Amino acid sequence: MKIFERNTKKLSRRDFLKTALGGGVAITGLAGISTNKNVSAIPQGNVDLSTANHEDSHNDHGSPGTVGQVNHDANGFDPPSLLYEWDYGEVSQLPNGQTLREYHIAAVDKEIEIAPGVFFPAWTYNGRVPGPSLRCVEGDRIRIKFINAGSHPHTIHFHGIHPASMDGVPGVGAGVINPGEETIYEFDAFPFGCHLYHCHANPLKRHIHKGLYGAFVIDPDPARHQGEDAQIARQRNHLFPEVNNYNEMVMVMNGFDTNFDGDNEVYAANTIAFAYMKEPIKIQRDQTQRLYLINITEFDPINSFHVHANFFDYYDHGTTFQPTLKTVDTIMQCQAQRGILEFSFKDFEPGLYMFHAHQSEFAELGWMGFFEVVE
Ligand code: CU
Ligand code: CU
Repeated sequence: MKIFERNTKKLSRRDFLKTALGGGVAITGLAGISTNKNVSAIPQGNVDLSTANHEDSHNDHGSPGTVGQVNHDANGFDPPSLLYEWDYGEVSQLPNGQTLREYHIAAVDKEIEIAPGVFFPAWTYNGRVPGPSLRCVEGDRIRIKFINAGSHPHTIHFHGIHPASMDGVPGVGAGVINPGEETIYEFDAFPFGCHLYHCHANPLKRHIHKGLYGAFVIDPDPARHQGEDAQIARQRNHLFPEVNNYNEMVMVMNGFDTNFDGDNEVYAANTIAFAYMKEPIKIQRDQTQRLYLINITEFDPINSFHVHANFFDYYDHGTTFQPTLKTVDTIMQCQAQRGILEFSFKDFEPGLYMFHAHQSEFAELGWMGFFEVVE
């Protein structure tokens, strides 16, 4: 594969972004964002490449970002839908009274635009990267009808408790599902928490990195817990009104190896580089924020989340009612690690509050955004 080598081996990840991306991705320093800069500091499609490329110049510490717009309609998903949309399945009741949730997931090949002009030949669940954010309640019967409409063998492997035969790995149960084939994964949802699912076909890192992953959130069932725990369970369960006191978001931290050299060139929360910088996430100042955060980044050992000017409580894996970390502004996650962040901007000055990976390189390559706190 001489052509492949010639095209890629001498380019660093940054060089790749500067020279190879027709859409014109302009990367400059993080240092340019300060509290003195107003909203106009956010690039809206007019960053001048001729100056933006001087990233080592002390005279040019502008804003990072991308030039142009991603065609979200063509992608079939947009940054707000990835943040806020849940798939609760088709809900019915089994004869024993247990709630049954049936989900339909198809693996499909699909080219997606991950930054303006940067297209990635993804493998997707239901045409999305990440796949649908599945949500259910502790103890529900989960039935996933999986169809492989893609071009490679795939599976769905869920993190959670289930029988061996439902594990979605090669050689066990249904094993790998070949193109044109289908299977059903069925199990009871335990334990409550913030989980994920992903393809487990080999080569594993290629199948995951191509886009086959998604959030899987199991709400705690208040009836299964006592006292204060039951109260907290109500605040986390989408079937109870108490959950409306929270603004619930999903972010899946991911990366994309656009030239297939085993290294990511683009990073994001929810796939689209800098999406939440271009369109900051509006949050009501008085509403508590709850963020389901999952790291599925391939090729890099860890990813992280950092919020500016504020602190959060963290529930590792979301499997506890009390925070496992209190009052922190940065957490790190290895691949598949995940958790729930809770924070509030009550009484804060309205405005733009940045969040990003605290691997500065990831931030500069797309994993950076803003909360816009409004009264
Ligand atoms: Cu796969
Ligand atoms: Cu896994």
